[in-house]
This record gives sequence, C-alpha cells and structure tokens, in this order.
Amino acid sequence: MKLHFIENRWVEPAGGDSIAVIDPSDGQVFEHIARGNAVDIERAVSAARRAYDGAWSRLSAAERGRLLLKLSARLQAHQEELAQLEARDCGKPLKQARADAAAIVRYFEFYGGAADKLHGDTIPYQAGYTVLTLREPHGVTAHIVPWNYPMQIFGRCVGGALAAGNTCVVKPAEDACLSLLRVAELAAEVGLPEGVLNIVTGFGHEAGDLLVRHPDVDHVSFTGSPAIGRVVVRAAADHHTPVTLELGGKSPQIVFDDADLDALLPVAVNAIVQNAGQTCSAGSRLLVQRGIYEQVLQRLGDLFSGLRVGSAQMDLDCGPLIRHSQQERVAAFLDQARRDGIATVAQGKIAAGAPAGGFYQPPTLLRDVPPQHRLAQEEVFGPVLAAMPFDDEAHAVALANGTDYGLVASVWTRDGARQMRLARAIRSGQVFINNYGAGGGVELPFGGVKASGHGREKGFEALYGFTVLKTIAIRHD
Ligand code: NAI
Ligand code: MG
Repeated sequence: MKLHFIENRWVEPAGGDSIAVIDPSDGQVFEHIARGNAVDIERAVSAARRAYDGAWSRLSAAERGRLLLKLSARLQAHQEELAQLEARDCGKPLKQARADAAAIVRYFEFYGGAADKLHGDTIPYQAGYTVLTLREPHGVTAHIVPWNYPMQIFGRCVGGALAAGNTCVVKPAEDACLSLLRVAELAAEVGLPEGVLNIVTGFGHEAGDLLVRHPDVDHVSFTGSPAIGRVVVRAAADHHTPVTLELGGKSPQIVFDDADLDALLPVAVNAIVQNAGQTCSAGSRLLVQRGIYEQVLQRLGDLFSGLRVGSAQMDLDCGPLIRHSQQERVAAFLDQARRDGIATVAQGKIAAGAPAGGFYQPPTLLRDVPPQHRLAQEEVFGPVLAAMPFDDEAHAVALANGTDYGLVASVWTRDGARQMRLARAIRSGQVFINNYGAGGGVELPFGGVKASGHGREKGFEALYGFTVLKTIAIRHD
C-alpha cells in the first residue's frame, strides 16, 4: 500500500484503511492507497502550519525559487518514470502522459523563475505619506486535485502556491494519485523543508471534505465538478476561507465559412479526443456556419472513423475512461441522444488487442444537436463532440454563450475585425483565434466565468490569487 506523505516521510493511515487503485486499461486492481481520515488531515495541516511558521517563511523568495527549479530539474530526470506511472493510473496513452510529465517540469520551472519577481506597488497619496503594498502568502493552502490530469493540475496549483510562499496540503483524487506521491518524494529529496508539501490520499467526501473545512487552512484550490465545487465553497465558508474554483466547461469552437479547414480539422479532433475527452477545457461543441456545415461534418466524420481506442501502453488516439461509472455516464448521454433522434455522423473503433475489462469508449461525432439538449449543455467528460449549425455572427455568439459554462472558446475565421468582435463578445476565461489550446500553456492565465468557476490559475496571474495584498500607509510629515 502507498502511504500518505507528510513532513517528508511516509505515514501510515491512522485508520489503517486502504483504497484499491484500478488500472483503467484493464479494470484490474494493481495497487492500494491510504484512506485518509480526520487524524491524517490534522497531522498534515499542522505540519504545514509548523513549516509555514518556521523554515519556509525564513527563506527569501530567491531561495524558494531555487528550490522549485531544483525540483523541476529532478522531475525532468524522472520524466519517463512519472509518465509511466500516470499512464497506468489514469489510463492515458503514453504520449499524453509524457506531455503531462513535461508540463509539470515546466510548471516548476516557470514558478521557480517567478518566485522572486512578484512584488507590490507604491501608491501616490497625500503629502507626508508613503504608501506601499505587499503581496503576502495566505499561509497553509489546500489543494483538491482531480484524476484527469494529476501532474498538470498539481503543477499549476502547488507550483504557484509554493512560489508565492505558502505551504501545501494536497488531497489528490482517489482514482489517480500515484504520480503525485512520487513527486512529493522527489521534492523532499531536493531539499524542500519538512511540512512544506504534504499529501493525504483518500476519498473526497472524507479526507477532501475534512481538509477544506479545516479551520487552519487559509486558502483552497479546487478543480472538479460544479456540484462538488458548490459543496467545497459551502464548507470553506464556515471559516471564511477563500476558494479558487475550476469546474470544467462546454467549450465551443466556432467555425466561420472563411476558416482554414485544413488547420481546423485535426485541432477539432484533438480538442475532444485528448485524454478521452476528460479535459476541463475539452472542445466539446462545434458550431459551424451553415454554408460549410455538411463539408465540415463529412471531413470530420472521416477523421473520427479512423480513430482507434486502446490501452495506455498501446498508445493510440484515445485511451480508456477513468472508471466504470464514468463509462456508464458517457453511455447514458449517448443513449439519450439516440432516444431523442440525434444522429451520429461517425464513431471511432476499439482496437483489436485492447484488454478486456478496460473502460473503453469510442469517440463519437453527433450532428444537429439542439442547443437546449443535455448534449449541448452538460459536460459529458468523454470523447463526444456535439456539432450544430449557425447562420451568422449574432447566432454564433448566442449559441456560444448559451450554456451555464464559460471556460474556453475558439473562433476560426480569417476576418480580423470579426476575430476581435467575437473574442470580446464571448463570455469565457480564454478565447483562442484560429487554434485551440486544450489545457496547454503554462504561461497563460486560465479559469472560468459562470459555472466554470472563478479565480485564475497558470501564468503569473495565479500568483496574485495565491497571495493577499497588504497596504501599508506610512505618515512621515
Ligand atoms: P469530483 O468533483 O467528485 O472530484 C474531484 C476531486 O474532488 C477529487 O479529488 C475528489 O476526491 C474531490 N472531492 C469529492 N468530493 C469532495 C468533497 N465533498 N470535499 C472535498 N473534495 C471532494 O468529480 P468526479 O466525481 O470524479 O467526476 C464527475 C464529473 O466531474 C466528471 O464527469 C466531470 O464532468 C467533472 N470533473 C471535472 C474536472 C475538471 O477538470 N474540471 C475534473 C474531474 C471531474
Ligand atoms: Mg486509477
């Protein structure tokens, strides 16, 4: 069994219980993790508090940054090992897991370099005053990490939090946390002081809930479902703990009749098939101007028909979904589509040789999905693309903004003025023009509006969220 990692040591779960770890590629149990309880959470939070009050706060920003850079280099040296762990745990095709391992290296590189470049202002005020602002860390930060991109999401939230001078307690998802336990061990090896980074594994409604409602936690970052995001905010509210929320989306790609289709088509496929569609920023809606709708569907259908699904090690276009219940969830969406007469343009195939018992789901392209239908409104979190036609710019904007979500959007057109009009009219945290950056871009601030959440992660902007601003007014007349 894998244990908790607290104060740079492996710690037995206080309750003695474990959770089975399943390989999504074959449905078999291959490991166990510790099932955290209140004692484990208490231990981790108090360790993080001691570190914050002690060694960590005594380091200069440059020294903190140097440690993060060392960690980045260490992760790079172990990149293939981490990719293999992540591939098995999440069922990711190896090329995706390798990209994720490269991303966590880059996160710690970026935030290591940023640590000593975060500074406040001086503010002109009345005569006889000097006013300055300090960016101070929150203190002990909690991080609830989901299973779809454990390393990437850990990199973006823990990297930023540590760079800004916080200490961290991480509760990874019960479905996938092996890579993160290894990352924490490597962090200890490069000299991160005891208690700065602690990992407690376990269920969301147990360890996760106890962590976010802990009175000594000063900030929470949560990535996951809108329903649990709401639960987390309510729990944190008892102690007025600020929360950053990233809750997924129903992100549209908008294709005008002057778009470069050769550029669009592979991007549109990747945006929904990457990580088997289990991506918060998946491009799950395709809005196409009516004049080119049939042409786009036909060419896209050909690409979908050629997609192959298999195990992580087979490293095909698409891997399995994370668990059986997720497969049932996606199947239920597709059953509903069938019952409601929504036509399938094309589907990929499960490759011969994909192990029995894996949670495989062929990528599916649906057409003429009514804008109010569940498949156009709700996050499927599987490789299902909902296409629909639009008539003009106003119609496209109405459809794009016509869901509860607002995370990412893209606009495909050669008309520069239209690019700008759309970029401004769309309500979302990111807009891409003539490309789609599903989750990529360590440097690029990322986050949602509406049900997609609030607060920004990634880029330098994240550092503002991981700090609180203090204003100091000095009178000296
Ligand atoms: P979830 O929201 O239950 O899980 C995300 C994380 O929250 C996990 O680490 C889990 O242990 C933790 N958690 C669960 N309940 C908690 C609680 N009461 N307090 C604190 N932490 C808690 O998501 P789930 O059930 O795994 O997936 C369901 C759907 O959520 C997916 O189909 C997808 O639509 C969405 N989702 C979105 C993600 C994103 O990247 N935005 C990531 C994962 C899921
Ligand atoms: Mg697993």
